Amino acid sequence: MTPPSLKSPQRRALLLASTAGLGLAASSGAVRAMAPARPRTRLRLGMIGTGLRGQVLLRELLRREDVEVAALCDIEPLMLAKALAMAEKAGRPRPATWGEDRDPEAWRQMLAKAGLDGVIIATPWEWHAPMAIGAMQGRVAVGCEVVAGITLQDHWDVLNTQLQTGTPYMLLENVCYRRDVLAVLQMVRAGLFGELVHLQGGYQHDLRAVKFNSGDPAKPYGGGVEFGPKGWSEARWRTEHSVQRNGELYPSHGIGPCAMYANIHRGNRFTHINAFASKARGLQDYVQAQGGKDHPNARVRFKLGDIVTTSLACENGETILLQHDTSLPRPYSLGFRVQGTKGLWMDVNQSIHIEGRSKPHQWEPFQPYQDRFEHPLWKKHAAAAEGAGHGGMDFFVIHAFVEALKAGAPMPIDIYDAVAWSAITPLSEQSIAQGFKTLEFPDFTAGAWKTRKPIFAFDERY
Ligand SMILES: NC(=O)c1ccc[n+]([C@@H]2O[C@H](COP(=O)([O-])OP(=O)(O)OC[C@H]3O[C@@H](n4cnc5c(N)ncnc54)[C@H](O)[C@@H]3O)[C@@H](O)[C@H]2O)c1
Repeated sequence: MTPPSLKSPQRRALLLASTAGLGLAASSGAVRAMAPARPRTRLRLGMIGTGLRGQVLLRELLRREDVEVAALCDIEPLMLAKALAMAEKAGRPRPATWGEDRDPEAWRQMLAKAGLDGVIIATPWEWHAPMAIGAMQGRVAVGCEVVAGITLQDHWDVLNTQLQTGTPYMLLENVCYRRDVLAVLQMVRAGLFGELVHLQGGYQHDLRAVKFNSGDPAKPYGGGVEFGPKGWSEARWRTEHSVQRNGELYPSHGIGPCAMYANIHRGNRFTHINAFASKARGLQDYVQAQGGKDHPNARVRFKLGDIVTTSLACENGETILLQHDTSLPRPYSLGFRVQGTKGLWMDVNQSIHIEGRSKPHQWEPFQPYQDRFEHPLWKKHAAAAEGAGHGGMDFFVIHAFVEALKAGAPMPIDIYDAVAWSAITPLSEQSIAQGFKTLEFPDFTAGAWKTRKPIFAFDERY
């Protein structure tokens, strides 16, 4: 029942065993797609982790005629029951289930026995790498929730397994499909901002009521200051990362869109990284205010700085700034800024300034630009995305995985994107631990970034 601890030798052994025979060779630079003989029209999919996020993604899968949800695995019977009830309500056949006995390795049985084309992984972060590696070794395509792994070695292991097996792998980074984010991608490609110079993004989301609750499954947000075994949903596992780690813990929502704009791994790459962390006050203040100074959790020392600021340099001269801000009171904002020689967009005010179009030194509202530069995906599927999670973007991220897998086409957010975006976490931890040192960013593509086509696949299909 205990998950692999964040850096335990037991976990390393598990990973090494699971990559045995594959070797840990440097990447060849080519992402292999396991192309089927003929494009498929229907997929048998499974899901590991049917918690709160898994259920949102499951809803999208159950709406699709081209998907059979054949198998579900969760070690929390209440979460599994909720997912089964969703399948029943949708009028779908009952998926086979694993994990009722709370065996944390039950997913291996599911992957071996369920005859799946692909699997969605929506478990706690520490499980993502071993589960993705196990699935790819069994030739089951992977759609993995953010992040790809915990340690830097995890990221190499996930990458090497993908390269060795050719099994498709997509990071399910939904913010890349946000309506304004994709409209800005069109604007970047049309040259509206001129040559890109600087990008910003982040994860600025007050998670205090996610990291602590009472443990009551009916009230997953707030209402208590428990975490770990006494917490429920993310409080059960996510909060421990704030106790043990200091770094940019959730980079992909911010870096994903910035990497698309800057064509990372498609003619550009990250070359350097450093990170600064502020003091840690917010979580302890919250626990003391909500639970009282005598509550045992009031004495917990959280390692995660309240504001972690990470800087990246890119081969083509752009800088990227990310901010992780989850422990203080604030309204939600990912804080995007896209700035080039001819102007900039900032999402916090939904405003834009383009030289020659906007009045000098003044902001313009973004909406008319969004309408004019609407991405083909949104033009085609806005109605289908209506009501899907996170303003519709959860429809698109599942749609992309399913359509690319059916077509045997490259995944739009591929293994190189996944590992580089996600490796920002261990690299930022390392930078902070070494006195905010600037580190070289590993080239996961082994030079292939120079010749890969300057696109993220996003077209009107996926
Ligand atoms: N992209 C997004 O917008 C978004 C939003 C929320 C969460 N997430 C990500 O989704 C993932 C899941 O988050 P969540 O909010 O659903 O958390 P959750 O705690 O609600 O769900 C996780 C589920 O995994 C199950 N689980 C744990 N270990 C398992 C194992 N060994 N085998 C099978 N099941 C196991 C748990 O019982 C739980 O039901 C995380 O990686 C999180 O970062 C992404």
